Amino acid sequence: MPRYNNLMTLDEFTIQQLRLFPNATGELSGLLRGIGLAAKQVNREVNKAALADILGVDGSINVQGEVQKLDTYANEVFIKVLRSGINCAGIVSEENECMMLFDDAKSNQSKYVVLMDPIDGSGNIDINISIGSIFSVYRRVSELGKPAVLEDFLQPGIKQVAAGYVIYGSSTILVYATRRGVNGFTLDNSIGEFYLSHPDMRMPPHGRFYSFDNRYYNQVDPKLKRYVDFCISTTENRKGPYSNRYYGCMVADIHRNLLKGGIFFYPQVEGRPEGKLRLCYECNPMAFITEVAGGSATNGRQRILDIMPEHIHQRTPLFIGSKEMMRDLEGFLQ
Ligand code: AHG
Ligand code: MN
Ligand code: MN
Repeated sequence: MPRYNNLMTLDEFTIQQLRLFPNATGELSGLLRGIGLAAKQVNREVNKAALADILGVDGSINVQGEVQKLDTYANEVFIKVLRSGINCAGIVSEENECMMLFDDAKSNQSKYVVLMDPIDGSGNIDINISIGSIFSVYRRVSELGKPAVLEDFLQPGIKQVAAGYVIYGSSTILVYATRRGVNGFTLDNSIGEFYLSHPDMRMPPHGRFYSFDNRYYNQVDPKLKRYVDFCISTTENRKGPYSNRYYGCMVADIHRNLLKGGIFFYPQVEGRPEGKLRLCYECNPMAFITEVAGGSATNGRQRILDIMPEHIHQRTPLFIGSKEMMRDLEGFLQ
């Protein structure tokens, strides 16, 4: 029997988890099933890319700037899947300026809201390099039966019930975390199922990679400059020098760091006092996954998951990675 037949599908896995909780309703399993379905549809378009006329810009701009066709497509797919399910009361997306409420009787009964970056690393679409999707799930604080409210989305990251990402790389992998652990599922394209391929992912406490866009080297805080020097030092860094890897897709960089150990940072730079990355649908979910896997994440002063968001699109500097490497970094930033 191929090894395969013994592997669990994403659905089987979430249902197995559900059985561990007598009061569980299956809503989170339903939500993850929907996200898995949306990921498969995005994956199909990513694979056809040039053939499907999905390369290039869309013509519109979002809060971030220029929008690629695939950003728009993925956004629509995730919204459609989540809206047609009954497990999500509303969403916040990088591609939509305002929150979107699924204000119907069934959706208003749902206890979850979702925040997402439909395509992360959009700059890589046209050149066939890894891209991702990121999602974050919160339990609503507002009354069930009524439409969700802004406060449901503006919760500190520590309150996430689940968070995950999909990486469309040399294979397509969906990774999601709950407080219980982080698990990765690889898409078998031939039958269109995600199978558990990376059970109970743990981030190595130390690694050999640092991910930072070196074009900013001369713009960052001198303390951080000293840390970058440390990363590549052959004398000072006993575990170095580290290799520099920067894909322009945080999902891909953090996925590698989760598996191999490493550190990623997008700090404050000239013209970007809060860095570039978004707290609610980029940093919080990646920080949650990383912490559950044994790593850590800060904005340079404070734990990412403790930040109380004020705006759905707010930015934050991000330092995230293997525990010991983060400890070294914090020594430099003090
Ligand atoms: P998005 O494609 O959703 O706009 O996010 C891209 C992010 C992140 O994934 C990546 O690490 C970073 O932006 C790259 O930005 P720079 O080109 O400024 O390095
Ligand atoms: Mn992004
Ligand atoms: Mn994006």
